[in-house]
This record gives sequence, C-alpha cells and structure tokens, in this order.
Amino acid sequence: MEAGRDPSALSLSCHGFFAAWGRFILGVSDVLLISGADVRRLLPMKEAIEADKRAFLLHAAGETEVPVRPNFTIDGKGSVLFMPAYVKGDINRVGIKVVSVFPGNLGTGIPAVPAQVLLVDSETGEVCALINGVEITRIRTGAISGAAVDILANEDSSVAALFGTGGQAAAQLEAMLCVRPIREVRIFDVSPDRIEPFIKGNAPLAERYGARLLPAKSSDEAISGADVITTVTTAKHPVFDGTKVKEGAHVNGVGSFTPDKREIGDELLNRARVFVDNREAVLEEAGDFLIPAQTGKYDLQNIAGEIGDVLSGKLRGRTSREDITVLKTVGYAVLDVVAACYVYENALKQGVGAQMDL
Ligand SMILES: NC(=O)c1ccc[n+]([C@@H]2O[C@H](COP(=O)([O-])OP(=O)(O)OC[C@H]3O[C@@H](n4cnc5c(N)ncnc54)[C@H](O)[C@@H]3O)[C@@H](O)[C@H]2O)c1
Repeated sequence: MEAGRDPSALSLSCHGFFAAWGRFILGVSDVLLISGADVRRLLPMKEAIEADKRAFLLHAAGETEVPVRPNFTIDGKGSVLFMPAYVKGDINRVGIKVVSVFPGNLGTGIPAVPAQVLLVDSETGEVCALINGVEITRIRTGAISGAAVDILANEDSSVAALFGTGGQAAAQLEAMLCVRPIREVRIFDVSPDRIEPFIKGNAPLAERYGARLLPAKSSDEAISGADVITTVTTAKHPVFDGTKVKEGAHVNGVGSFTPDKREIGDELLNRARVFVDNREAVLEEAGDFLIPAQTGKYDLQNIAGEIGDVLSGKLRGRTSREDITVLKTVGYAVLDVVAACYVYENALKQGVGAQMDL
C-alpha cells in the first residue's frame, strides 16, 4: 500500500527525455501506430497496476481534466463515445479514447466494443501515437481491480472468485493473481458452457502464479470462504448473495455501467466499507448504487470515498481484518491516457510500433 506518496514523485520521470527522444527518432510529424499484440507486450499487468495507481493519485490531487464524454447513437447499429482527458503532473499529456458499442459485430470477427486511443504530444500539439484501445481497456480495467486488491484486501488472501468469463475476465484474473498469494480461483458464469473453455484457456496463466482454477456450480459455491471476489459480467441483477460474503473479504464490482444494471446487491453494500474509482462517474452510471438509493435501501452518503484518496493517505482504507471492502468501478479516461503513456514510452524505449509520416 502506498498511502502518502506524492504523485509528482512517481515514475515516468523519464517522460521529458523520452518525449524529446521520441520526436527525434520518429520525426516531427510521425505518428507511432501500436497494435494490440504490442500493447500486450508493452504493458505487463504489474506495470499496468502501477499506471492505474498513478492515475488515481493524479485524479485525487486535482491534476486531471475529464470533460463529460459525448456519446453519439447511430440508429440501429450502436453508439460511439469520445473519452478525452488531460492528465497534468509530470505526465502532462492529452489523449482521447474513441470507443464504440456495436453489438451487431458479435460473431463477425470485429470486436463488439472496438476502441483506439490517440495521444497528443504536449510540446507540439501533434498527435504522436494511435494505440489499440481494446487492449488498453482490457489491461487497465484488470489493473483497476489489481490496484484495489493491493490497496484494500487482506495480505494473506488466498481464495478468489471470478464472475464472468467474457472479454475482460482474463485480465481481471491475472490482476488478482498478481497482487495476492491466491491459490484457488472459483470461476462462475451464468452460461455454464463458457466456464470450462475459460479454465482451459487460462490454466497456463494461473499455473505461472501457482494457482488453480475451479468451476463453480453456483454463485454460493463460488463465494463460500472467498477472500477476493471480482464481478465482470453483463448482468442486470446482483450476481451473488451479499449476506454470504465472508467477513474480511474484498469485492471488485467491474461490470455494470448503466443506471439499470447492477452486479452487487444492497445487502453487501450495507455490510461493507465502499470505495469507488470516480465518484461523479459512478453516481451517474452505476445501477449498483442508483437502484438501491432510489428505493431507500442504500444511503449514498455511506460511500467512504475514492480509491485515490486512500492511496494519497487522505482516507483510511480497510480499518480491520474483519472489514468487508468493495471497490466499484465504471472506468474513466484518465486511466486510458496514463496507460497509453506507459505503452507509448515503452514502445519508444524498445523500438516497437509502426512509424507513419502523415
Ligand atoms: N469498469 C470498467 O472500466 C469497464 C471496462 C470495460 C468493460 N466493463 C464492463 O465489464 C462487463 C464485462 O465485459 P466483457 O467484455 O467481459 O463482456 P462479455 O459480454 O464478453 O462477457 C460477459 C460475461 O458475463 C457473463 N454473465 C452475465 N450475467 C452473469 C451472471 N449473472 N453471473 C455470472 N456471469 C454472468 C456472460 O455469460 C459472459 O460470459 C461489461 O458490462 C462491460 O461494459 C467495465
């Protein structure tokens, strides 16, 4: 845990050097194109967790500007969102993620949620990089949970449960394994036929961390005795019984992002010390809070605060081994821009990416 760290003293200290070097080796108007495969190599989970912590700290220090994201609906097809952010401090970069939700792409080989991140050079104002945003999103979202577990979960957490086996799930799994000595992860999905392929596909990853993946037949079986629980589903209703979560557990709520959807029930919220990644965004989008608040089953005043304030030392995280802690995230553009900066700088250092003179 890194309470009290000064955000301006954190890494990316070589930023100015690499930015200048980047302009030198790329040429003034060159854009560096970075593929999804390269993002996976350039942003290992441990580094992504550091990047997210840095983003949380800068946000907590008031060093970010995040305008409301415009969202265009294309009739019958889907929606296109523009997510810009200016991250100040020694990162000092503007970026934007363009992300679409096109459910009709499912099964066509095109992602249903395609995305790209564009970074702007803060010396010249030119676009300096175009980076695969699907991978940035996947890894930075896993890293949100990794950071939360690192900050909030008991140190000896060894049993985890993962709800959901979709596109985001593998990064969520790796993030949990990265920060705690997890030995067993129960996997649950409302579509049971998805569980075994997920376990098979991710067994090598789990083995690298000395963990085994086990199918859970029910949500009760998944959470029984679990120290860490992550939900990354498209569910509309709570995915497990919050009264059965063990004392001392930590829960990440990652999936729901609209006012009509939730994964975490009010029983759990009322038992837990609750944190969010971005209070404003969560209170706008997360049905996990909005639904029980409307029916008087949860008082929004009980949200302890933002995770960045725990990192900065302003707010206490876990207060005892017995606390249940919850982190609800809906994500925000600062996380994408900071992760993209790490990718871009690693690409410059390692000579990775395709250079294009526009
Ligand atoms: N917080 C963030 O920053 C962030 C970032 C990216 C995506 N997300 C959200 O994460 C969610 C998951 O994304 P994805 O790409 O993995 O989706 P996906 O559609 O690929 O997979 C969703 C999975 O959830 C399962 N599921 C649905 N209801 C369930 C339930 N009640 N119990 C257990 N499993 C259930 C589905 O069967 C499926 O396997 C989405 O809602 C997405 O919007 C959040």
